[in-house]
Amino acid sequence: MRRSIFAISIAAAGFLSTAPGVRSQQIPPKDITRPADTKAFAGGAASLLATGTARHGDTSLSPAGRSCNTCHLEEDSYNATFKKPWPHFVDSVKAKTGLDRITAEGMVQFCMISAMGTRPLAWDSDVLAALTAFVLERHKKVVEK
Ligand code: HEC
Repeated sequence: MRRSIFAISIAAAGFLSTAPGVRSQQIPPKDITRPADTKAFAGGAASLLATGTARHGDTSLSPAGRSCNTCHLEEDSYNATFKKPWPHFVDSVKAKTGLDRITAEGMVQFCMISAMGTRPLAWDSDVLAALTAFVLERHKKVVEK
């Protein structure tokens, strides 16, 4: 557990952490909140999970050559907030967007912007649905009821 969080802090240095005296980059809440007029890509659960597992290790999603696995290789490579039922409070989301709670899908978008260094995924894309399915599956194994 400690090892993983430590690994995250190293990998995320400069992306999610705020250097003293430097104003942290702000993210508009609308970039990580599903717009009312959009629908998630509909796919079969098994196929979404298979695609999500593959794309979680896909470095082509980030112009900086990172994948989600770069920082979240294992189920325990998240902070303690990950174990709370969705939607829930996440420190960096609060700091960068002001939002008190975030969904699993919103968390994928948040890390796309703040950690992968790119734009949020299209709201109707198969990759967003697949990565969300992967995160939800992992979350199921650790959630504190
Ligand atoms: C450069 C490192 C880095 C990369 C790459 C990265 N993340 Fe994260 N992610 C973090 C950090 C740091 C946190 C902890 C945020 C906090 O607790 O304030 C986090 C938190 C999370 C959480 C848990 C939030 C919670 O506590 O409930 C999820 C889910 C997540 N990331 C998904 C993803 C996905 C999906 C990708 C790929 C699209 C990704 N991350 C890529 C650094 C990264």
